[in-house]
Formats: sequence, structure tokens, C-alpha cells
Amino acid sequence: MLADRATAAVFCSYLTKMRPYAEAARASRLGLVIGKPTQKYQLPALPLRQSREIDGSGRTSVHLASWMCQTGWVASKKSKGQNMSQRSYDRAQHTRRQLIRRFGATAGVFVAAPLLFREAIAQVAFTDDPFQLGVASGEAAGNGFVIWTRLAPKPFDIGFGLPGQPIEVEWEVASDEGFRTIVRADKAIANPMMAHSVHVEVEGLSPSRPYWYRFRAGGAQSPAGRAKTTPLAGAPTPRAKFAVVGCQHYESGLYTAYRHVAAAEPDFVFCYGDYIYENGGTPASATTPPALANRRHLPGEIFSVDDYRRRYSQYKSDPDLKAAHAAAAWYPVWDDHETDNNWASEWDEKGTPPELFRSRKQAAFQAYYEHMPLRRSSLPNGASLQLYRRAPIGDLIDLNLLDTRQYRSNQPCNDQSAGCTDLDSAPHFLGDAQEAWLKQGLSASRARWNVLAQQVVMMDLDRDAGEGYRANVDSWAGYRTPRGRVLQHIADARIPNVVVLTGDEHVNYAGEVHLDSRKPGSNPVAVEFTSTSISSGGDGQDLSPNDQAVMGANASLKFVNRQRGFMLCNVTKDRWETSVHVLDKVSEPDGKISTRATLSVTSGSNRVTIG
Ligand SMILES: [Fe+2]
Repeated sequence: MLADRATAAVFCSYLTKMRPYAEAARASRLGLVIGKPTQKYQLPALPLRQSREIDGSGRTSVHLASWMCQTGWVASKKSKGQNMSQRSYDRAQHTRRQLIRRFGATAGVFVAAPLLFREAIAQVAFTDDPFQLGVASGEAAGNGFVIWTRLAPKPFDIGFGLPGQPIEVEWEVASDEGFRTIVRADKAIANPMMAHSVHVEVEGLSPSRPYWYRFRAGGAQSPAGRAKTTPLAGAPTPRAKFAVVGCQHYESGLYTAYRHVAAAEPDFVFCYGDYIYENGGTPASATTPPALANRRHLPGEIFSVDDYRRRYSQYKSDPDLKAAHAAAAWYPVWDDHETDNNWASEWDEKGTPPELFRSRKQAAFQAYYEHMPLRRSSLPNGASLQLYRRAPIGDLIDLNLLDTRQYRSNQPCNDQSAGCTDLDSAPHFLGDAQEAWLKQGLSASRARWNVLAQQVVMMDLDRDAGEGYRANVDSWAGYRTPRGRVLQHIADARIPNVVVLTGDEHVNYAGEVHLDSRKPGSNPVAVEFTSTSISSGGDGQDLSPNDQAVMGANASLKFVNRQRGFMLCNVTKDRWETSVHVLDKVSEPDGKISTRATLSVTSGSNRVTIG
């Protein structure tokens, strides 16, 4: 906070001077022209940049800050017992609490801004490329999207090759690939507290069209990325095309599939999670394919925020992954491995006391936010991060992006699927708030297709090819009570055309979702497509010896394949088509891609057809 009244006075007078810039920003479609910081106080453009990100105009926080100056709050922070009466101090504190209550994180962001008044923006000139981790976009909406980058000239060094100071990053968005027509441009601050990542929420764009974006910092320019805005919610939308990706264990295989995701030019990408894996490295051995010999994790499992940052650095250095990010806006959600294998709410797989596991979650969540093109609404708050959200794609699709990790009850049977019959006792999978939000959203939806874009398989598959029944207790099948509540709601409210998109198992599955697959009703409640992994599990094979038997035991399961790749969904009003793209190898460069199957659903049927 401001250390003394003199500094506060400068802040307030600076604010007054900057008001015209805020007015200009509102008037200008090209965004804010920022005044140079004064030498004496290093007053950067941050307050106004923050202002613009708060409400897109600058008005709220300029007014807010003016009020703070007028009420004496800014000047009062260090004044208790010195320059103010106790009553004035209490009043100022009350005002501050009111502000924070009223504006929530927004007020927090702004209130934190004066910290940087004391800290110079680093003047940097890079010798190594600071954009080695690429660029990304995400959270596409009808009027814009998030653009992301992270400065890291030395992605694996302590400090990542950067000073522990904020760095100014210019960004621009163009309506053409050649950047001849710039439609938005501004500056953002890459803060060391956020691993020098930048998340800009670009607004004011037109719906249903591509844009191109890039960044500049310290004399370096990033590669360009492409992102498409969505159709406006409810707008007539004849078709959409998107990819489903995830599970990209770095040691297990090359990311060749991502090259083909980029080439497909999808409208957007849904990532179901396992973007990184947390385990320590396995040294290359005589049996390691040469192409994977240098593709090893650092030794030891990761726990600290810098560990996680370095792991993201490693994954994001991959050129094919960078190409997929640069090609389309992503909607990412996490699964378990972004934090810890099979974690559930407060519990990890090792039985660590929750109060200790919380510190690991906090580190993992912060690094996740830093490396994903998420909105400010997903900024982590300690060991908590708001990840579930909804993305409408015109009147065609409502994409319900779910978080099945953060609020679930612990797995039954101590997460041991074999022999587990305690499948009804776990009360929560989405948690009360998310479950209510999902049901309400499904009931209110007018979209043709309602998608549950999430992590783990919802079909209650029998994994035992023999007489018995074995559930995967880490999936929805281990949580029959909350699963039943969600599916019963879909059935009772007659929610049409529910499509569940899933990852986790490193297998391509397609099938039909019943309330209880052991007693299937006449009509399935939904269909499910489980997309295979990008690399996890290695080369794979079409089918394992057990698969035919498992399919025999599960009438609702229509398709299985165990190779690496991704799914591409082509959606129209009448038909949902999922093509299954697989690679012959991920252990060698340039694996051959092919379309293993095309699976389709006719609107209103809840049945999967293989064609
Ligand atoms: Fe995985």
C-alpha cells in the first residue's frame, strides 16, 4: 500500500491527470493511448490498464479511485495514530471493506495497483526469444476472447531469464492475417507474481469471424495466433466444428496429433484436461524410442509453484502444441494430473492431510491459471479456482464446461475399483452449487445440442468382461447417487440432445448413457464420446484382447479404439458427427494420421451410429 501521504497525494493527482485518457479510451475504438510514466515516481499505465480491464471503459475504477482519494482512504493507510483520528481511520477501513465487498476481486485488483507505483516497469531488451512458449487464445465469446502469452526467454532457468519486475507487453488484434487492419491494441503488464504471463480479455469484436493477434515486448515480437469469435448466444448458427483434446503425457509420445488439430482449423478446441502430468521423470533406457529420449520430465514429482511452472514450460515448448494453440481459441478444463493423480476435493492419492494438500493445490491452481487463456473470473483464490462455466455457440450448442475434481466426495473403496460395491454412498460429484447451476442451465437452454464438456466417463460401464460388475470408481460410475440426480433431471425435464464429451481413459469410446446400464430404459438419456489421448499411453493399438468381451458386456458401448489422436466434432442442427482421428505412432516423428471412424447422432435420437 502507499507508504506515506506524499505518495498518496501524487497518486491522487496522477489520477486526476489521467481522467482525460480514460475519456479518450472510451471514445477510441483502437483503445487507450497511454502517457509515459514520470521518471520520478515511475507511474506506469497500470491503473488505467487495470481500469479498462475491469469494465472495458475505465469508468468504474477511475471513479472508484477518485472516491478513494476523496474519502481519504488512499491517504489513510499508513496514517493510523499519526495523522488521523481513530474514528477517521475506522471510517476509512469501513469504506475499504465496503469497496471490497461491493467490487470483490475487481476492487482487490485495483487496490493492489498502487504496489506497482513503487516498482519500476523493467526496461528489457531480450537476447533470447521471450515468446518460446507461444501464444494462445481462449474463452471465445460473441464479442471477443482472451489472448495469452508468457514471457520466458529461459523457460527452464530459475527466474525464467527475467527480472523480478513487471514488464510491459504490447498486444494487437487485427481483422486480417497480414495485420493491415488493427482493430484493438493496448499494453498489458506481465507480472512476476503470475510468471510473467499475460491474459488480455479482448472485447468489442464482431461475432462469428476470425481475428489474428500478437504481442511485443523488449524488442521481440511473438508469433501470430488466430482466434474466432463465436456466434452471439441464440443467433442462428447452421454449423460448428471443434476438436476435443487432452492427456498429453510428455514422455509418452510426440504431439503429432496437434499438428493435425491445427490443420483442421476448428472453430474452437475443447481440452478435457491432463494438460500436464505431475509425476517425476523416467530416465531414458535402452527401450526408449530415440525420438523420446530427450523428452523426459525432470526427476521427482512436482509440488511447488515453480515446479509446476517449469513443467508447463516444458510441455508448452512443443511446436505442435504451440501450433494448435495458435490455430484456435481453446476452452480448457482440468482433470487430475494438473494437480495430482486422482485427487478429489481435499484429498490426494497419498492420504496427505487436507491442510497440507491445500498448499499443493494452491501451487498447481496458480500455475494452471498462469498457463491457460482463462478469464479474470478464474483467477485462483488460494486453493480454489472457478473453472465451471458455460459457453453458448449461437443457437446450436450450449457448452457446459464442468469441474469434476474440485467439489467431489472422496472416491469410494479408497479409490480401488476392484471388488468395490460401495457405489451409492458418495454424495457429491459436482458439488451442490455446480450441480444446481448445471441443472438450471440445462433447463433454461434453447440450444439444439447441450454438451457436458468434462473429464471422466459418464457411462456406467462394466469393466469386468466376465460375470461380475466392476466400475471405474474415479469416474461418474463410482458416484451413482449424484450421477443419478443429474441424469434423472435430464430425463424428467426432457432436455434434448445431451452430448457428453470426456477424456481421461486414453481410449476412444462412443456410447449411450442410461440411468442404469444394467437396467437400460427404452431410451438413452444422452450420448457420450470419450476422446483418446494426444500422447499418454504411447502408440497404443486398435483394440486390446479384452475389448471385444467388454463391449459384449456393455450393450450401450458402441465403439472402442486405443490409439492416440483426437476427435473432431462437426455439428449441424440435424446431426452431430464425431470423427475419430488416430495416429499409427507417437513414438516416431511424423506418425501417419487416419480417420478411424465417423460416429454420428441424429437430433432427437440419443443413439450413436457408426458410419
Ligand atoms: Fe490422462
